[in-house]
Amino acid sequence: MPLPGRPATLRARTWAVLRGRPRTWIAIAATLALLLPLGWMWQSSLLPDSYDVAEMGYVDWGGGPVDGHHGMGHGTPVEELVADPDRPPDVRETLTVHVDDDRYTVNGTSPGPTLEATVGDLVEVTLVNDNVDDGITLHWHGVDVPNAEDGVAGVTQDAVLAGEEHVYRFVAEDAGTFWYHSHQVSHEQVRRGLLGALVIHPEVPDPEVQEQLVVLHRYAQGATLNGEEGTTTVDAQPGQAVRLRVVNTDNGLSSLWVTGAPYQVLAVDGRDVNQPGDVTGAKYGVPAGGRVDLGLVVPEGGVRVDFGSSTALVLGEDPTGGEAPRAPRESVDLLTYGEPAEIGFDPDDPDRHFDYRIGKRPGFLDGRPGMWWSVNGHLFPDIPMYMVSEGDVVVFEIDNGSGDNHPMHLHGHHAVVLSRDGVPASGSPWWVDSLEVKDGETYEIAFVADNPGIWMDHCHNLVHAAEGLVAHLMYTGVESSFRVGGDQGNQPE
Ligand code: C2O
Ligand code: CU
Repeated sequence: MPLPGRPATLRARTWAVLRGRPRTWIAIAATLALLLPLGWMWQSSLLPDSYDVAEMGYVDWGGGPVDGHHGMGHGTPVEELVADPDRPPDVRETLTVHVDDDRYTVNGTSPGPTLEATVGDLVEVTLVNDNVDDGITLHWHGVDVPNAEDGVAGVTQDAVLAGEEHVYRFVAEDAGTFWYHSHQVSHEQVRRGLLGALVIHPEVPDPEVQEQLVVLHRYAQGATLNGEEGTTTVDAQPGQAVRLRVVNTDNGLSSLWVTGAPYQVLAVDGRDVNQPGDVTGAKYGVPAGGRVDLGLVVPEGGVRVDFGSSTALVLGEDPTGGEAPRAPRESVDLLTYGEPAEIGFDPDDPDRHFDYRIGKRPGFLDGRPGMWWSVNGHLFPDIPMYMVSEGDVVVFEIDNGSGDNHPMHLHGHHAVVLSRDGVPASGSPWWVDSLEVKDGETYEIAFVADNPGIWMDHCHNLVHAAEGLVAHLMYTGVESSFRVGGDQGNQPE
């Protein structure tokens, strides 16, 4: 039987003790002052089972007109933003993805088959998921496809589950070097091989030029060039003009340097450079996700291209006799390379001006405490939703004060670099879809909002993306069709 007097006595004694000890009070109050906001931060960082990206974070109108009706239930659903459904395809492929012991293949290989099309072609790809339990998608990196074809699980489609298939259709509007990769659990699936190249040829290719594709990828076993480790040698006669199409599918910058001949930077991210000059004694850095097309003429004695200090391509003979040359100290700087030309719009008085300030700070990511990437001071999922309307001229100021480098990738658009650290671009128009923003740098980029939808704008170090370095660009008049999470387990990062 409980003794009625006991608790009261205990309480009285406790009170008496506390009353005599103001220090204890202060300690308790201080602890609460610390724990309550922490608890609130932890709680508010938890991601729901499923959510609509259009409703996440906070809206940033970039100083342009505000349209209160964005998001669910107002406008064209994402899934309706497709290529002309009545147009028959010019190129048709089936890509079947298989996973075996954590290694992904596409039609039995990794990198998967190289897709080739001619500018203007309608490309139709049927993606088949043989046995990937997490589900898969295909994102056409650098191709400004209609939004429903963008391949982002939970944003532009549901993940394609094992035994299912999905058809992608888009017009290859721009000639250039591109690639495809999964955008479901992408930080794992891409690293483990779910990727391949996509080459869109110009209407009239130059028959005199030998084309050579270089897909760089680091698997668990090591760095590879078109799936091969070490040095790859291809036949080429002295005097042969070569176009090297380099794709960096890794999470970090890849440096390349050429021994034996000068080279030109012909195209960056699927856009031609205007009047590219000859480069000698300088290396070139390809951002994660980025591509570069190099032009060179094979000299007597051959030419060699080194990629980092891990793989190399030799055309004809190896001018170094097999000894890996050191990287030059100088780098090609696209801010000044090539000659200026029209960009087709006036970025001086933009309709929207956004900040994308990347930092790092302590907090919670889905309940996990740690140091996380922040965007404009906010942690995922409390990140900006950059709102634009079709036709807007948009300027982004990307500022990196995070202590690490970030290859920033905007889906569905190409942007032109206006300045770096306040220095205006003075070379060829420098169009990008994947831009290396080093720690401490600030870039101003601009584009015309001409492709309605909901578009990811994230770091292509896919580990960083999975750590929350993700935001979205959204058009007014567009509404979501899909949700992250849910029954399909949509998990784009
Ligand atoms: Cu190549 Cu959102 O990615
Ligand atoms: Cu990053």
